[in-house]
Amino acid sequence: MKGERPSPTDAEARVCWTVEIAEKTYLTRLDAGHVAQALPGQFLQLCVREDVSPLLRMPLSVCAADPTTGTADVIYEDVGPKTHILSRLPAGSPVACMGPIGNSFPDPGTGATLLVGGGIGLPPLLFYGSRVLSRDPQAEVSLLVGARTAARHLPDGVVGGAASRYRRATDDGTSGHAGPVTDLLREDLADRAAVTVFTCGPAGMMAAVATICRDHQVFCLASLEEYMACGFGVCVGCVVELAAEAGTPGQDLTPYSRYSRVCVDGPVYDASQIQWA
Ligand SMILES: Cc1cc2nc3c(=O)[nH]c(=O)nc-3n(C[C@H](O)[C@H](O)[C@H](O)COP(=O)(O)OP(=O)(O)OC[C@H]3O[C@@H](n4cnc5c(N)ncnc54)[C@H](O)[C@@H]3O)c2cc1C
Ligand code: FES
Repeated sequence: MKGERPSPTDAEARVCWTVEIAEKTYLTRLDAGHVAQALPGQFLQLCVREDVSPLLRMPLSVCAADPTTGTADVIYEDVGPKTHILSRLPAGSPVACMGPIGNSFPDPGTGATLLVGGGIGLPPLLFYGSRVLSRDPQAEVSLLVGARTAARHLPDGVVGGAASRYRRATDDGTSGHAGPVTDLLREDLADRAAVTVFTCGPAGMMAAVATICRDHQVFCLASLEEYMACGFGVCVGCVVELAAEAGTPGQDLTPYSRYSRVCVDGPVYDASQIQWA
């Protein structure tokens, strides 16, 4: 997925504020003019402490960006040292911030937009849905969200502006449909023809979404969240295997063309091009 994108810059951002919006899940607004032009799907590499530990930067998707105020928002779950430190930084704290990185979701074509998110995969979908609706308030944007339990779902106030229609699923049945979010996707696709699916979340969920879309002959874009180190294409720590069909017809993929670096070629891919495990 190639396209116009702003060049990444490494500069200091400052925390404006952080609020807990769901269980162990935080929304942080950054004063970061150099990434405020970010497009939906792009991400930031944040260094939350000037210390050797934690050593690596942390990739987080941009959830909202406003060039007029020079701010960018990230939503993240406290899962380890870097996310925990960020969630505790007081307002005004400096954060080294490289971005915006990667490609982005393309502008919607004709037809409906169907966003399918799970876990920490929701932020880029919220950004995309909000952008589509801000350009065309009549656009048909559906959001299907899966979470382990009700307390992990983001509040309506955070999610509402990103979709004209919103359905929830939980693994334990405490909110919305009891079962995987892919059940909702199957229901939705049974009723529709002209739709493009955008997905981000756990790899297993995205693999299932890709399979369902292939079976319904629906175009699907997936934003991958592989483990990353450098974030600029050097360490090859973020590669994904491409499906054989992604190569030149009639030619086998070589070791060099068989893998793609998510940080420079992605994170957004045509889901049919990925060799899902
Ligand atoms: C392009 C991209 C965008 C991302 N966007 C978001 C986002 O918007 N919100 C968000 O909460 N997280 C996002 N992530 C994941 C986030 O980067 C990690 O959760 C974070 O780096 C964890 O750092 P930590 O030091 O807190 O925990 P660590 O100690 O590094 O990890 C804690 C646990 O999380 C697991 N983990 C770490 N990174 C990943 C990953 N990439 N995929 C699956 N499991 C992982 C580890 O295996 C471990 O079990 C994104 C990742 C990528 C590559
Ligand atoms: S994270 Fe180093 S090449 Fe992608």
